[in-house]
Amino acid sequence: MQNKFESLELGQFIPLHYHHNMLNDNNRMKGFKEAINLVVKPGAKVLELGGGTGVQSFFAAQKAQKVYCVERNPELVSAARSFLARNINGDKIEVIQADALYYLPPEPVDVVICEMLHTGLLREKQMSVIDSFKKRYLEKFDGPLPVFVPEASIQAIQPIEQNFHFEDFYAPTILFQDPYATHERSKSLGDPEVFQLLSYADPFNQICHWDGEIIMAENGQLNALRLITRNILAVNMLTYSTIDWHTQYIIFPLSVPLTVTKGDHISIRFSYQGGAPLNALSDSLQVCFVNKLASVLQSASETLHCSSNLQSEIAETANIL
Ligand SMILES: C[S@@+](CC[C@H](N)C(=O)[O-])C[C@H]1O[C@@H](n2cnc3c(N)ncnc32)[C@H](O)[C@@H]1O
Repeated sequence: MQNKFESLELGQFIPLHYHHNMLNDNNRMKGFKEAINLVVKPGAKVLELGGGTGVQSFFAAQKAQKVYCVERNPELVSAARSFLARNINGDKIEVIQADALYYLPPEPVDVVICEMLHTGLLREKQMSVIDSFKKRYLEKFDGPLPVFVPEASIQAIQPIEQNFHFEDFYAPTILFQDPYATHERSKSLGDPEVFQLLSYADPFNQICHWDGEIIMAENGQLNALRLITRNILAVNMLTYSTIDWHTQYIIFPLSVPLTVTKGDHISIRFSYQGGAPLNALSDSLQVCFVNKLASVLQSASETLHCSSNLQSEIAETANIL
C-alpha cells in the first residue's frame, strides 16, 4: 500500500533537501532566470504552478507587479514564505498552499511559470496541470491565454550501446545522465529521433508515443535507448533564438539487446501517459529489426517462388508421363 501511494505521488512531493540540488543546477537556474526576465514585462501579473522554494517567483517579482505562487507541499510552502521574506521584492509574492490541478488566480495573469518537468514528461504532472489550467482559465476569464514558461518541450529517443558492467558486476538498470557532460560509458549508435513537439499554449494529447524507425549509424550492441527532453523556456522573437534547458537524460536498458550493423533499420514503439512512472515507457517498449525482418520475408518469398516453380515442373512431368 505504501509503495503504491509513493509511486502514484512520485514527483509530487520532492523533499526540501532535493530542492538544493535544483537551486545548485546552474544550467537550470540561468535558463529560467533569463527566460523569466525576457517574458515578464514591467507591471505584469504572474502565476507560478509548483513554486517549491519560490525561486522562479522571485525571478518574476523583479519586474512583475504581483506573483501568485502555488505549492502543495506544506513543508515547501513554509520554506518559500520564509525565504521570500528575506529576498528583495519577496513581498510582491503571495504563496498559496493549494493543488495546482484545481487552483485559479483571482484575476487574469500575463505569464504562467510551471516547472514540473521530468525527462520524458514522466513522473511529474506538467501535462495534466497545464491542460487543466488552460481549460479552467478560459472558462473563467475567456482568454487570451498567458505566455507559458516553458513554452514547449521537444522529446527525442536515441539508440545507444551502454556499458552496464560495474567492476565486473553486470547491472542493466535505468540510469540518469547529465546532458551537459560527456559519457565514457555510452556509445551513440544513431542520431536522436524527435517523437514529440509539445507547445504548452496549444491543445495537446497527454499520451507520449512513437512508432518509428531509426537507422544505425554505427556497428554495436544496441542495448539501451536514451530519452532526451529539451525544454524551450522562452523564445526571443528579436534575435530568433530560444532559451533552452535539458532535463537529465534517462537511459532505458533493453530487455533483449540487438547486435546491429551500420545501415540497419530498427523499429521502435512505445506509448505512455504523461506523468506516469518511469516503467510505463519500458513496459510498453518494443524494439526490433526492420531490415533483417525484411530480408527474412524476402528469402521466405523466394522459397515460395522456388517451390511453386518446382510444383509446375512436377505437374509438367506428370502430364508428359
Ligand atoms: C520540480 S519542482 C520545481 C520547484 C520550483 N518551481 C523550482 O523551479 O525550483 C516542482 C514543484 O511542484 C510542486 N508540485 C507538484 N505537484 C503539485 C501540485 N499538484 N500542486 C502544487 N504543487 C505541486 C512540488 O512540490 C515541487 O515543489
